[in-house]
Amino acid sequence: MKTVKKAIIPSAGLGTRFLPATKAMPKEMLPILEKPTIQYIVEEAIASGIEDIIIVTGKGKRAIEDHFDRNFELEETLIKRGKLGLLEKVRQPSEVEIHYIRQKEPKGLGHAVWCARKFIGNEPFAVLLGDDIVRSDQPALKQLIEQFDVTQSSIVGVQMVEDYDTQRYGIVDPGLKEGKLYQVNNFVEKPKLGTAPSNLAIMGRYVFNPEIFDFIASQDTGADGEIQLTDAIQRMNQVQSVYAFDFSGRRYDVGERLGFVKTTIDFALEDQLIREELLNYLVRKIEEVKLADKSLGYNYQKME
Ligand code: G1P
Repeated sequence: MKTVKKAIIPSAGLGTRFLPATKAMPKEMLPILEKPTIQYIVEEAIASGIEDIIIVTGKGKRAIEDHFDRNFELEETLIKRGKLGLLEKVRQPSEVEIHYIRQKEPKGLGHAVWCARKFIGNEPFAVLLGDDIVRSDQPALKQLIEQFDVTQSSIVGVQMVEDYDTQRYGIVDPGLKEGKLYQVNNFVEKPKLGTAPSNLAIMGRYVFNPEIFDFIASQDTGADGEIQLTDAIQRMNQVQSVYAFDFSGRRYDVGERLGFVKTTIDFALEDQLIREELLNYLVRKIEEVKLADKSLGYNYQKME
């Protein structure tokens, strides 16, 4: 029986939604509280049993490598100052061994995954995208790997989204369903509004058999002139089944501004050191906004 021990984390994207912050800094290093978003992703991979991680980087992504490296000077300073709690936090990311490869041209997600093919070889592997952080009792990727262990088939993680959001994701056209596992008739990348075959959206967690590389290698460019992973999955599914699994867990969309702010608030409300003060602030703020809006004749309820 084959099982999944390797993972690819594509991180070569330009992060245009967060410009100018991402002009000189990788979007993957934007923090939710004090932890960069990519560290949450790496932690999920490890908690799912992944032993080897390769991050596909691009131009201007050096900070990611530095983050997962040791920083002896900083560690020494923290030791001298007796800041052992911080020392632990600084060392933690460097305890993982991570490999890197550069995507030399921005040719899309499918191409980024393909760049890591030699590292993967002839084994099944996982792909985790950084735009979604998932909080769940059992890590989202682990849920997919458990399904893979049974079916030995490639599988994508999905969750339901609202109608207006279907155009932002890869969407599955589901076939037969068993529990939370779906057979899939078709995979469609970012369907135009009103044309999505369902509301089941691909959420940046995948497990693949290595044959996916053959489909990516012969994949024409698709949406946005890029080599789309979803298009290669669609073609693979004609030959060997690719399933969809509706994984459990709360998903935080950190790939766009509003989702990023909401995630920061939610995570901060779980932090006992700042929770109470933040709650007080939010309650006061809401009252203030309501008052100000009323004087402008603005109907606050309409926001829902
Ligand atoms: C990518 C994939 C898409 C998937 C999404 C999840 O799109 O192409 O199928 O649903 O990630 O976050 P991107 O957000 O990179 O445009």
